[in-house]
Amino acid sequence: MRMKTIIITGGAGFIGSHVARLFVNKYREYKIVNLDKLTYAGNLANLKDIENSPNYEFVKGDIVDSNFIQKLFEDKQFDGVIHLAAESHVDRSISQPAEFVFTNVIGTVNLLNAAKHIWKDNYSGKIFYHISTDEVYGSLGEEGMFTEENRYEPHSPYSASKASSDHFVRAFNDTFGVPAIISNCSNNYGSYQFPEKLIPLFINNIRHKKPLPVYGTGENVRDWLWVADHARAIDLIFHKGKIGETYNIGGFNQWKNIDLIRLMCKILDKKLNRSEGESEQLITFVKDRSGHDLRYAVDASKIKRELGWEPSLKFEEGIEKTIDWYLTNEDWLNNVTSGDYQKYYEEQYTKN
Ligand code: NAD
Ligand code: TYD
Repeated sequence: MRMKTIIITGGAGFIGSHVARLFVNKYREYKIVNLDKLTYAGNLANLKDIENSPNYEFVKGDIVDSNFIQKLFEDKQFDGVIHLAAESHVDRSISQPAEFVFTNVIGTVNLLNAAKHIWKDNYSGKIFYHISTDEVYGSLGEEGMFTEENRYEPHSPYSASKASSDHFVRAFNDTFGVPAIISNCSNNYGSYQFPEKLIPLFINNIRHKKPLPVYGTGENVRDWLWVADHARAIDLIFHKGKIGETYNIGGFNQWKNIDLIRLMCKILDKKLNRSEGESEQLITFVKDRSGHDLRYAVDASKIKRELGWEPSLKFEEGIEKTIDWYLTNEDWLNNVTSGDYQKYYEEQYTKN
């Protein structure tokens, strides 16, 4: 019998690498193909431990290239798609919005077209699973949480491009019957996150005694989820989720930026044997991000009720583990900040 073949896009990124590792190790009977363009955010060193697994294959490629995607789908005859590839950083979307339309919108449509084409309206056992963000719902005031029924109200070019891709996924489900599921998750934290996002950036800056640029007054609130818990939710939804449905995923864990930053400073003072309050001196309030959403908070009760998922780790434990990981994996941090990791592909995959 042919092995079930699943494509994970963006598998060399932060969340994608956790998902690829989980699937390769847990489902030996599946063939996992990781398709990634290896942008600045994609790093094959994130996957060193599985790169020689017999059920794993890496393919370098761009989801914006429709001919390439069509051919890849024809060659591999995927049974399932787990789509994570994206431009993912809000600040970059403010300086280069078009990049986000290419990858996040056109790239998603190319994948949907290719899946529809190879599945030829025979959708039995097939699934197109699109990984999205809570940012599509916009910003909350002091009260309330995002449920799956919230209307879309994106503010940044990043969230607008993700909202658009979600609409295309639903449109392909409604119009062509492509069996699709979407999940919208809150801010993830954990190992292998590129140090442009708040938590790894600030750990790295504290390590080097560099200023900590807090946007505005630091009053913005985010809901943080341990990345491995997101990967577990993705596994569950991929296997047990209902086609056509949307699931919100979140940590039930809201933090004001400034409180989270102070907590990181305190933990790092201890771990780096600095005097109490030393790292807090690095906090520097800077000009606010344009269109900065005030608060995100996800109501993840549907996935809890219907699929039995909930976060496994308390934030105080998760942030401590995360800080330990970045301090222990100094080489990884040094490589990604110097850009050296981009040579890894040449050395590993283009020999001979
Ligand atoms: P990331 O930026 O760390 O990784 C993105 C990956 O996609 C990288 O490996 C990159 O090389 C690849 N990629 C980018 N453009 C590509 C293209 N044109 N073709 C092929 N590959 C390409 O992102 P992440 O934080 O791991 O996020 C993964 C997904 O999860 C994204 O869709 C994001 O919107 C979503 N998400 C992220 C968070 C979060 O907190 N990080 C929360 C909710 C949802
Ligand atoms: P980020 O990690 O970029 O995630 P997102 O914007 O997708 O939620 O930022 C998390 C929060 O931290 C957000 O409110 C912006 C803020 N922030 C800063 O104050 N300074 C920084 O240098 C960064 C990167 C983010």
